[in-house]
Amino acid sequence: MSLAKELDTLPGDLQYLFQNFRSYIDFNDKLYFAVACIAFNPIFWNIVARLEYNTHFLTKISGGARNGCYLLAATIFGLGIYRDHVYRDALLDQPTYQPLVDSVIIKALAVFTFGFGNVLVLTSMYALGVTGTYLGDYFGILMDERVTGFPFNINDNPMYNGSTLCFLGTALWYGKPAGLSVAAFVYVMYKIALLFEEPFTAKIYANRDQKKDV
Ligand SMILES: *[C@@H]1O[C@H](CO)[C@@H](O)[C@H](O)[C@H]1NC(C)=O
Repeated sequence: MSLAKELDTLPGDLQYLFQNFRSYIDFNDKLYFAVACIAFNPIFWNIVARLEYNTHFLTKISGGARNGCYLLAATIFGLGIYRDHVYRDALLDQPTYQPLVDSVIIKALAVFTFGFGNVLVLTSMYALGVTGTYLGDYFGILMDERVTGFPFNINDNPMYNGSTLCFLGTALWYGKPAGLSVAAFVYVMYKIALLFEEPFTAKIYANRDQKKDV
């Protein structure tokens, strides 16, 4: 199909999809499990990190704050890989909206979204380091100063937004409307996680700065 022809037909196809969105989602167990995994991860790391902050249990069992943080990092990383696998598996079981798959524009958008999402995630990891990325502040490992370079100069939460874009890009690539809903759910979950994490991190840094002053 030529690009000109596609520009002609795509808006109508998308409109049809929005009007019939529900019929392209198969509410099966695989989908529920993927949604459960997506919800589980941020809940898990918030609970474990706060437990660590209050009891230092990870520091104690691993013999140091840094080791404890690496242990948590490896766990979160592993859970993330598993969740991505479960998501992809669930997605492939979902109905496909063929015009999405056939569209060169959507394919390009999928590649851009997934690529840009990965750039945001990887560059923020690189900028923050392992302990900065994986809740080091709950272990008492604080950054010397706020990281303001890329990607933090273009987005406040590049890790979460980047991750959301990866889910979105995957859904677009496979032409799965269910995946679009899941990506929206990912975004909401991270928004909720931020409601817990941002004030807590701010509090930890405020405590440090107070100590510095005396
Ligand atoms: C994503 O980016 C927007 C705009 O910068 C921001 O408001 C939001 O908090 C970010 N993170 C998430 C999880 O939505």
